Amino acid sequence: MTRIFSGITPSGHLTLGNYLGALRQWVEAEHTPSDALFCVVDLHALTVEHDPARLRRLTRQNATLFLAAGLDPRRCTLFVQSHVAEHTRLSYLLECTATDGELRRMIQYREKAAKAEAAGQGVRLSLLTYPVLMAADILAYAADEVPVGEDQRQHVELTRDLAVRFNQRYGHTFTVPKATLPTVGARVMDLQDPTSKMGKSSENTAGIVYLLDEPAVITKKVMRAVTDSGEGGVVYNRAARPGVANLLDVLAACTGGDPEKLAGGYAQYGPLKRDVAEAVVELLRPLRERHAVLAADPGEVERVLREGAERARGIARPVVDRAYEAIGLLPA
Ligand code: TYM
Repeated sequence: MTRIFSGITPSGHLTLGNYLGALRQWVEAEHTPSDALFCVVDLHALTVEHDPARLRRLTRQNATLFLAAGLDPRRCTLFVQSHVAEHTRLSYLLECTATDGELRRMIQYREKAAKAEAAGQGVRLSLLTYPVLMAADILAYAADEVPVGEDQRQHVELTRDLAVRFNQRYGHTFTVPKATLPTVGARVMDLQDPTSKMGKSSENTAGIVYLLDEPAVITKKVMRAVTDSGEGGVVYNRAARPGVANLLDVLAACTGGDPEKLAGGYAQYGPLKRDVAEAVVELLRPLRERHAVLAADPGEVERVLREGAERARGIARPVVDRAYEAIGLLPA
């Protein structure tokens, strides 16, 4: 049976990008014959300046949104990363497998480090080592597939490199995983700045659709989306017309169509925006409604997470124990 693992960092409110790039794929994966684990990867939220109370709130909210999106704890394992010690246990062994140069090349590190420096903040060491912890998240569960958006592809590649290297040096220990990306919606762009990814921790929220935004707010954000000047009406061209291409991608992801074909149905931006707004509002409506019900019963979410962590521990511990032995550490 295919083992699936993926996670979301509780560093902000979840966005339409998180849903189309990751969460929605997870819900689909749950309906295939697979053993899937999905995780609120809270330790990753400590790599940049953070507020402890907000982190606790967002961790609960993310987990509640997993359930609201349709993940069923009877069919998959939902848990919080810091509740399972194997992640950090394995991370150290992988730090002894990765190189400094390899980590400094990671695009996300370079972008976030530059941002922290520009804001006069120190760059936390964990920001550099975070892809190694991510590799540990995946390898501890012997995952075959990792459903993620485009921006995480490089980190999954690193995970593969580390698994192969470790296996070659110390004997076969890890399953070498592969990233799986949705065909449309793998990189949803910011509505106000369509050359940047729609990110949950971005400061300017006008171009970000949050999963819990009210319908009127979603409509306003989509109607105000930046479109491109230029001749030729509505055409799908990501490089030359990133704003319109992003709207067409979102519409295609919501309705199951093809962005290029959809472009042919519009002569002007206005009607396209109206259809995008309506499609997004309808896509997210059930999620928002279920979230309201689930949020009223936090005890139930906590119970799901406790049970999930127990099951996750049972899977990860023997894998990590094997790695400790393979690398030459005496069994305790
Ligand atoms: P994070 O929390 O930034 O994003 C969670 C997931 O959402 C996807 N995503 C997007 N997809 C499309 N368009 C966007 N604008 C967009 N923004 C985010 C991401 O690709 C991701 O799949 N390091 C990871 C979390 C992580 C993880 C793991 C993932 C930690 N350990 C192990 C998989 C397996 C992260 O920060 O994702």
